[in-house]
Order: sequence, then C-alpha cells, then structure tokens
Amino acid sequence: MPLERTLSIIKPDATKRNITGKINAKLEEAGLRIVAQKRIRMTKAQAEGFYAVHEARPFFNDLCNAMSSAPVVVQVLESENAIAKNREIMGSTNPATADAGTIRKEFGVNIQDNSVHGSDSLENAKIEIAYFFRPEEIVG
Ligand code: CMP
Repeated sequence: MPLERTLSIIKPDATKRNITGKINAKLEEAGLRIVAQKRIRMTKAQAEGFYAVHEARPFFNDLCNAMSSAPVVVQVLESENAIAKNREIMGSTNPATADAGTIRKEFGVNIQDNSVHGSDSLENAKIEIAYFFRPEEIVG
C-alpha cells in the first residue's frame, strides 16, 4: 500500500496545557511519522479560511476564535493509510463519546476544544497540507 499524508493540528487547548509531546507520542506509537511540523499562531482570518466548509454552522465563529486564541502545532503525518489511522487514534469529534485510548478521550476538553484536527479524506488532506506547508518543508 502506498504512503499517504494527512494534515494534523494540535489545537490551542492542548498547546496551552503543554501536552504537545504527549500527543505526538500517541501519533508515533500508532505508526504515524511526523514529516513536517511547525508551531504557529493563526490569525482569525486564517482560521476562517481553514474551516470555510463549516461557515454556515452555528459553532463557526466560536471555533475560529478558539483556533486563533493561542498557538497551534500544524503537522504533516505520513504512513500507509495515514488518514484513517490518524482519525482512529484521534477518536470521534466529541471527547465525551470518543473511544477509550484515543487522543480526544484522553486529552479533549469538550466538542470544540477537542485537542486535535485531522483531515477526513485524501482530497481534503492535499488542500489542508498546502494551506500550511510548502512542498520543501515536508521531509519524508
Ligand atoms: P475538527 O475535527 O477540527 O473539525 C471541525 C471542528 O469544529 C471540530 O473539530 C470541533 O473543534 C468543532 N466542532 C464540531 N462540531 C461542533 C459542535 N457541535 N459544537 C462546537 N464545536 C464543534
């Protein structure tokens, strides 16, 4: 099976609690390789652009405020089946209903502040990776 890449974001709720290393350990234990990573502070406009698909949702404004409220760590993860693998180790959106052992169950605060984001399809992974990284910043 060919290698796949996915975009991951360690969200402000996690950077504020200084648990980026704990989250990276979970990703690496699951077999995902961090082939690009940077800590940035998103502007509100950057967050709105990233989450444009959710523009009409009632939580959009609060989400974009939260995502630009403190630093995030954006990263490219690589493995066979990286998109599905990352979504499995992240757990479902709401930490309250996420499976035991997942990142969101262990570290998520609530449905908005759920510690991590991960691309949901190959097509979106390509778009989301290009939103934050130039090709030469990704070293597989
Ligand atoms: P993420 O996987 O980054 O994709 C969209 C984000 O919107 C999601 O994680 C949550 O942070 C947030 N979100 C999704 N659903 C809700 C909701 N019902 N209420 C508040 N925030 C939500």
